[in-house]
Amino acid sequence: MSNPPPKPPSKAATVPVEERITVEQQSWEIVGPPLPRESNWNITCLSVILILAGAALVSPLVGITASAALALGFVLLQTVGMCLIPVLSILYLYFRSWWSEGYYCCCIPREPFVDLYTKILFLIYQKTLIPGLLKRPTSANLKLDEIRPKAFLKKKDVDYALNLGVPLGSEDEFGVVQTCISKIGSFVKENLGKLWMVQHFEAFKPGEDPVQFVMDRLGQVYPEMHQQWPDKQSDAALARFCRVGLAAHRVESVLEEEDGSSTGTVSGTSSTSTGDPKVKYYVVRTCTMSVLEVMDGYARYGSDVYFDADWKVVKIEDSGFGKPAADNQPANYLSKTTFKPGEPGWEEAKFRFRSSLMTMVTIVDHLYAIHLQISNLLVVAMREKMDPNHPMRRFLTPYTYRTIGVNDNARTNLTAPRTMANRSFALSPKGTGLVWAAAPSLLKGGVDVIELPPTTTESSSPGADAATEPLRRLKIGLNRRLYITLYKQKVRGIYTPYDEWNLKYWDVTYSFVTEYVKQYYGGDLQNLAQDKQVMAMIRQYLHQMEFTNSSSLGAAAADIFNSALPQLPVALADIFIDVITAYICLVTSGHEQVGSIAPYVQDASWCASKFVPGASCGTKNGALNIALLMSFTSTPMPLLMKPLAGQNVEMGSGGEAWEPWTHLFPDQNKTWAGYHGPTGNGADNSGGTPDKVFWDYQKSLQDLSKELDEYNATSDEPVYCFNPKYLETSVSV
Ligand SMILES: [Fe+2]
Repeated sequence: MSNPPPKPPSKAATVPVEERITVEQQSWEIVGPPLPRESNWNITCLSVILILAGAALVSPLVGITASAALALGFVLLQTVGMCLIPVLSILYLYFRSWWSEGYYCCCIPREPFVDLYTKILFLIYQKTLIPGLLKRPTSANLKLDEIRPKAFLKKKDVDYALNLGVPLGSEDEFGVVQTCISKIGSFVKENLGKLWMVQHFEAFKPGEDPVQFVMDRLGQVYPEMHQQWPDKQSDAALARFCRVGLAAHRVESVLEEEDGSSTGTVSGTSSTSTGDPKVKYYVVRTCTMSVLEVMDGYARYGSDVYFDADWKVVKIEDSGFGKPAADNQPANYLSKTTFKPGEPGWEEAKFRFRSSLMTMVTIVDHLYAIHLQISNLLVVAMREKMDPNHPMRRFLTPYTYRTIGVNDNARTNLTAPRTMANRSFALSPKGTGLVWAAAPSLLKGGVDVIELPPTTTESSSPGADAATEPLRRLKIGLNRRLYITLYKQKVRGIYTPYDEWNLKYWDVTYSFVTEYVKQYYGGDLQNLAQDKQVMAMIRQYLHQMEFTNSSSLGAAAADIFNSALPQLPVALADIFIDVITAYICLVTSGHEQVGSIAPYVQDASWCASKFVPGASCGTKNGALNIALLMSFTSTPMPLLMKPLAGQNVEMGSGGEAWEPWTHLFPDQNKTWAGYHGPTGNGADNSGGTPDKVFWDYQKSLQDLSKELDEYNATSDEPVYCFNPKYLETSVSV
């Protein structure tokens, strides 16, 4: 079915920027979901009466049709007339009757704000989510006899992405049972996106609370939130947004010595520059989004925000503000409109930046990087290359819990054409394809270093010659301590509270990984090089991941994973610990940073997923769609940290739903297939036990949580995503 033509964009788009009125934006208060959660099927007495009345109007026609059919002897047509038409009439009126604004003169509801797909998905999801929320899974769900054997996993390709498959949900471990119902559910999930898309352009009225609008309709499935943002709209709030909020992992810098025409060009990770870099601007960029085509009627994304060395906002350079360039014209991003604080258009420019940033983070950092690359490819490599009794397979099991099912949901419900991402954001099919193609080059947080041009000028880093140069960049890109201290701080002059707590969380995790590995490889990490399963797993993972494969690292990398690493046991051990630590950090705190963004998208005047030209608030359709997408993240996973005494972080159940996962750790002294090196933690096994290492880890997490709580209690820039008490062991949607 073809889409109806969208309504024309707002007239405000035609008003020159200097003549636009600056609208004072309101910081709408964050509203949590009502607890305990209860289903809402959107059935009211009035709607039932009106729906039945509507169906009754249809019934005479049905009777006439049926009688005529009977007279003609068309039994089949009679059956259809008697049964199907009234049923379809009732369903049609039911789905139109909720999330709408009033009725026309009879019982036909007015514009419903969202299309049929969104409502059906909401009903399906509500049915599965609310019962699931009543009890959080714990590590007790990780039963040893349910760990599945090493085997090649059945996968389906991801739309838009090249050469990227996601295992079917039926391949997951722990309590996954294939029934007729689950097969029907899978069929529905695979095909629901075939329903048509309708664009609704209804705007919020002046003074209408967009938060309450969303929560009135989706509150029962909306995630719980712990972030506090009493001020969302001021310039100071924008600085907070970039230093410790949603943009914190994407901060770049322009240095004093850099030519303004080449702002953002990275000179390398070399430490040849002496002294601290002089920062001219801190900047967060989304300008590359401006070249992406959007659907008719919507504004384009894309702008960069600049702060001075004291983090006072200086300007926003908006690349998506004007009309798209015609064919054969210079690229759109070269045409920028500059906005400065207090000048006409400033509030709209801030809104456009925040919304562009949220869109980029959700598609690129969350869906593409965390789900379909990092967590997907690691769990595939682990399941395909490691036996169930392998100590590292056991170690990774909590951090991959339900990851296959979650990513299968992401493939079917979020990334497939005409599913939630398509319906939430303004990108056209062409724009969506382009953003997926560009995703690897849009990443920050280490990938920016991995993809730097090779340099051999640094002699102090591990592996200083050209042959191991890719390995050096890979290590700096993976290892948060090196990335933040050697690159962000030393080369780019960036060090925010986000970086400070990122380092602390990294160190706790790094220590846990290191000490655990020592327990099984004779106390010496270099023995990892003798483990054929580890080698096979890490090789597959790094080869398949788009930002660590040889096309990103350069041709020399092709040989590194095949032949060089086994000859470099120190380097292999380093890389392996970095890879595993980075994985754990990314699926816990990284996912919290880029995926748990419910407070942001709850407010369409703060971070909107789609908006029309000239608007400083998203459409109602976009607000509901992105809120439903965000509700998918409500699915609870096991808590990472044992809750502190008296600290009830469990959501709604009133209990501390946490269990240790030490039962997963195998006997230290037993060997396993593909490894013939020393076992245990040393000659006399005097280096502790895996259990002790685990409890040390828990103690460190609790200490970090307390320290961060104390910091947040007095800081204007609280940091949430590195607080272990909020983190789960594995990704949710
Ligand atoms: Fe997620």
